[in-house]
Amino acid sequence: MSRVAIVTGGTRGIGAAISRALHAEGHKVAANYAGNEEAAAAFHRDTGIAVFKWDVSDFDACAAGVARVADELGLVNILVNNAGITRDSMLHKMTLEQWRAVIGTNLNSLFNMTRPVIEGMRERGFGRIVNISSINGQKGQIGQTNYSASKAGDIGFTKALAQENARKGITVNAVCPGYTETDMVRAVPQDVLEKSILSQIPVGRLGQPEEIARCVLFLASEQAGFITGSTLTVNGGQYL
Ligand code: CAA
Repeated sequence: MSRVAIVTGGTRGIGAAISRALHAEGHKVAANYAGNEEAAAAFHRDTGIAVFKWDVSDFDACAAGVARVADELGLVNILVNNAGITRDSMLHKMTLEQWRAVIGTNLNSLFNMTRPVIEGMRERGFGRIVNISSINGQKGQIGQTNYSASKAGDIGFTKALAQENARKGITVNAVCPGYTETDMVRAVPQDVLEKSILSQIPVGRLGQPEEIARCVLFLASEQAGFITGSTLTVNGGQYL
């Protein structure tokens, strides 16, 4: 059955792979982006997927964005909260701006995006919400107190929201990608990536965005109706 899906941060990296996978499954996809016009235009050209610009850390912008998607594509019944940023720094050097930016985009966004869609999903008796957390929300990471806190928060949010809505046909799950081949991971200093990260991945390589997208596609499907509140770990065995 064709549904309307929003993928935040849906024009680049893991989000782009998720948007493509949902689109290929026959869903109407709104790929949200915040700033990178060039990447969004190229993504739209390549895929034909509709792109919508708003900042997920801004509550009012999210409400307006959801309303625009509903007008243009229809009522939203799949939400993938994928947008995420890093501002890596040891805590003793971290600025308040770095802390706030990461919590705003990676954690506050889950409230901002879910609040405008959840009532409609409850009324219609169907919804799929998938929150993209991270291995580093599960295990912590040097240089990422902000990011790890936000991603651990995403898991708590997922579990609470899953319980609130289990009787309403709505499932809420988290996916925790490990280190995946995207611009975000390419920004990690090369020596750290080789010495401290790749050596810790039993599968012996980085993940591919499509490997994360396939999991999201399954969790967003009708068939996954008995899976809710779960945390799906997709990290090549790096953290068990
Ligand atoms: N694992 C183990 N050790 C690490 C590490 C890591 N990922 N990152 C840094 N370290 C170590 C360094 O090797 C260094 O050790 P020594 O003092 O023994 O040399 C120590 O921590 C301090 O590091 P730096 O000297 O490099 O300090 P800095 O202030 O210049 O930079 C840093 C610190 C910002 C954390 C930088 O090292 C860095 O960017 N590290 C990578 C952090 C990381 O893994 N981020 C993940 C981004 S990808 C992502 O977030 C996606 C996802 O969900 C998985």
